[in-house]
Amino acid sequence: MEKKGRVFSGARPTGRQHLGNYLGAIRNYVALQDEYDCIYCVVDLHALTTLQDTQRLREWTYEMVLDWLAAGIDPERGTIVFVQSHVPQVTELHTILSMIAPLGKLLRLPTYKEKVRQQPENVNYGLLGYPVLMAADIALYKATVVPVGEDQASHLEFTREIVRTFNYHFGPVLVEPQAKYTETPRVLGIDGVNKMSKSLNNHIELASSPEEIYARVHMMVTDPQRQRRSDPGRPEVCNVFSMHKIFTPPEQVKQIDHDCRTAGIGCVECKRIFAGHLIEHLAPFRERRARLSQDPDYVWNVLREGARRASVIASQVIEEVKDAVGLPKRR
Ligand code: AMP
Ligand code: TRP
Repeated sequence: MEKKGRVFSGARPTGRQHLGNYLGAIRNYVALQDEYDCIYCVVDLHALTTLQDTQRLREWTYEMVLDWLAAGIDPERGTIVFVQSHVPQVTELHTILSMIAPLGKLLRLPTYKEKVRQQPENVNYGLLGYPVLMAADIALYKATVVPVGEDQASHLEFTREIVRTFNYHFGPVLVEPQAKYTETPRVLGIDGVNKMSKSLNNHIELASSPEEIYARVHMMVTDPQRQRRSDPGRPEVCNVFSMHKIFTPPEQVKQIDHDCRTAGIGCVECKRIFAGHLIEHLAPFRERRARLSQDPDYVWNVLREGARRASVIASQVIEEVKDAVGLPKRR
């Protein structure tokens, strides 16, 4: 079948993936494989901007890619999965794009300011250039669609702008990409307040055992005004209820909505029902993950083949870029 275009996305190697990654991004990575040529990248260079402990990058790369494959990312269907640093042309494109990247804009990006707040002892050059490297990732593969969570919106907008600037100065070489969001572009953590993230330890890992899932779901914060079992609840402000809407059959969601408002059901029981559906939903994932991990080389073989295929595209595009910019050819 003729594909509609090319999809690219990247994620920092953070190890086992959580429900936020899954609902905000991975679901779309998987779904888009039907209609697009897809490339998914482990952005290990990006990870260097924040990590103290770089010795765990290999392990976290392995765990993350295993989750992707178990979730349904399928190299057999032509999808490319590779490690950013294995295709070094991206650092060349990053350098070239950095010459047209407006410093004022980079300094004002909310993601940069947040990192400065989080790690005042390590405000490095790479942190400022993070969105330029991300733009290089996407532009190097001329991707048209980029599935990401909502937290990446400002980075995607930056990518579009720098691509336009490049094309304005040097000719129509690069492609302006569109962000693609899921129905749940910002998933809250079990604290019910912050975005789900590993660094806040408010996450639920996809690879958790049923017991672990019960334990994490049990910790979820519900309607803070519902103090006693006999208090009526407000599903519209409850994070457990928003999860029900994703994982629980619609008829039962209606029933839970009613029973919560009338105090017919307590939070403990409501969470138990949600955990049951989540565990069931993830059962095929857990099975595939266990099967794939029996061959410890499988993930690395996928990444080797992915880097080989990504390099073919990257070498061609970087030549077009250098030519357009006017750099003298090596003869
Ligand atoms: P990260 O692990 O932060 O590199 O994120 C990988 C992908 O998952 C990115 O596309 C993020 O936007 C997405 N993502 C991470 N956390 C969440 C969340 N809590 N809700 C929705 N999407 C998320
Ligand atoms: N900035 C993204 C994040 O923090 C990761 C990323 C790097 C990315 N390069 C990308 C996402 C290219 C999409 C496309 O999650």
